[in-house]
Amino acid sequence: MTDFTSATQTIPPVFTVPRHVAIIMDGNGRWAKQRYLPRVAGHKRGVEAVRETVKACGDLGIEYLTLFAFSSENWRRPQDEVSVLMQLFIRALEQEVGKLNTNNIRFKVVGDLAPFDPRIVELVKRGESLTENHRTLTLTVAANYGGRWDMMQAMQKVMAARAIAGADPAAPVTEAEFTPHLSMSYAPEPDLFIRTGGEQRISNFLLWQLAYTELYFTDALWPDFGRAELDKAVASYQQRERRFGRTSEQLRAALPESAPAANG
Ligand code: IPE
Ligand code: IPE
Ligand code: MG
Repeated sequence: MTDFTSATQTIPPVFTVPRHVAIIMDGNGRWAKQRYLPRVAGHKRGVEAVRETVKACGDLGIEYLTLFAFSSENWRRPQDEVSVLMQLFIRALEQEVGKLNTNNIRFKVVGDLAPFDPRIVELVKRGESLTENHRTLTLTVAANYGGRWDMMQAMQKVMAARAIAGADPAAPVTEAEFTPHLSMSYAPEPDLFIRTGGEQRISNFLLWQLAYTELYFTDALWPDFGRAELDKAVASYQQRERRFGRTSEQLRAALPESAPAANG
């Protein structure tokens, strides 16, 4: 259960610094290609960009950082690329989780872990339980994640809970009944979505949770992302007026004269 606001049920609080930033880390392959390197070189540099971005988020006071690392559709890639990505994931889990723990960062993974190597599943479980009490920053890695998968698994859990409770399976499903079963119910909905690599699409990321998220697209390739690029994205966010269905006039009437445009 959560006490976070659903943007479609209640108007959520808006702060100058986004509380939750969700990123599609795209462009590793192109970064490598530009350098006549194999795609895997781009993925390796991508891990370094993750390290820098996590640090920068901590410094800015961002509370939740969610990174799309592997989509439910990425299995369609050549088998050798998929297995390199799995190896990189294992190595990152082995080398980085201890550091996250030292830095008071809570580590979470969302996605269907069933098809993964048991070693990955074990490392994920260990990392999550080691860091579960940290609240400075929550780093979520989305692995074998798909927004449609998330909604479908949540709906199945709604039905299973009803069956156990002996509730009417045909009764209308409410948001309040559904959202606690979404895989990121421990986090507020993202305030800022970033996609690197120049494509302007969601690629089956957090479909439900992005309903009122501010979207930011940059041509920067993921391996080149870091503090400076994050600052640009946050600066863009701070120029937005988050209306959640209301008019601009309503927002301005409710704000003190000196409040910034982002009404935080
Ligand atoms: C993102 O970079 C990493 C993953 C999807 C795992 P890409 O590998 O998609 O890089 P491009 O889009 O081919 O440049
Ligand atoms: C989205 O990137 C998924 C991740 C970054 C993990 P893709 O490169 O797979 O997206 P598409 O296929 O171009 O939409
Ligand atoms: Mg891509």
